Amino acid sequence: MAFFQKHDPSESGGNLAPVCSVCVVTSAKGGVGKSTVCANLGAALAMRGLSVLMLDCDMPNRCLDLLFGLSEDVTCGLTDVLSGTVSPDDAILSCSDRFVLDLLPGFSSSGDETASCYEKVYDLLLSLRQKYYDVLLVDMPGGSLDLLAKVAKGADRALIVSTEQSTAIRSAASTARLLSDAGLTDQQLIINQFVGGKNRRERRQSLIRTIRIIDEIGATLGGIVPFDPTVWSKQNDGTTLLSGAYDRTVFADAFRNIAARFCCESVPLFRRNR
Ligand SMILES: Nc1ncnc2c1ncn2[C@@H]1O[C@H](COP(=O)(O)OP(=O)(O)OP(=O)(O)O)[C@@H](O)[C@H]1O
Ligand SMILES: [Mg+2]
Repeated sequence: MAFFQKHDPSESGGNLAPVCSVCVVTSAKGGVGKSTVCANLGAALAMRGLSVLMLDCDMPNRCLDLLFGLSEDVTCGLTDVLSGTVSPDDAILSCSDRFVLDLLPGFSSSGDETASCYEKVYDLLLSLRQKYYDVLLVDMPGGSLDLLAKVAKGADRALIVSTEQSTAIRSAASTARLLSDAGLTDQQLIINQFVGGKNRRERRQSLIRTIRIIDEIGATLGGIVPFDPTVWSKQNDGTTLLSGAYDRTVFADAFRNIAARFCCESVPLFRRNR
């Protein structure tokens, strides 16, 4: 199926199971903003009217439930689903009353997060594709290259998250190569925590550096997310784009633009949405 396609339930006449587009949010390097991108892109896509399921694959360090203020509601999660003790429907939580934005948390009720579970992630992706969602966003742990290769086989697109730092860029380039080797060539690069500089000259230099990064990695640019000093406290409060707390910020503009490009719209890099 072409990436990306909105499902219309009337088209299938209720007979055919819908198939959603699977996108893995990844980078070999930790802490660059994969989970932040997953949560806020998920919110931005849902606010465009798409039905979105997020899968927190970072079992040792799950955080999407925290970013949506849902940690109290988590009683079971991905490991239980992978081991077959809980059905996906029983583990999936709703993140919004207004939009279809759901989460399968990276949690285990038994405390067992064995690597053998990871073997089953691909099969789970296949079965989740048959559920009624337009998009499945998979939040990957940093550095888990074996798991990434497995998940890549079940995905249609990868968002590779990087910062402007040379160490992150090198990791993003190696992530892109690994994904290509696994056959996942639809790759978009997200530059996160972008510090544009204090004046025009610094901003221009920063952009030139960023363009070099994109050239180096060879991936299509999905968008540039600015460093926003309020992100920490908003994440502590379980706040994403959904709540309106980021409205009128460049951070929110960036995610709305990334969501538009995700849906194959062509929009200017720093389009204002206010
Ligand atoms: N655009 C941004 N502006 C400011 N802070 C940010 C931004 N994006 C992410 N952060 C902060 O950077 C830190 C790492 O973000 P996040 O947890 O999303 O990264 P990650 O790649 O998912 O990490 P991990 O590899 O551990 O899963 C968090 O403290 C988050 O609040
Ligand atoms: Mg993370």
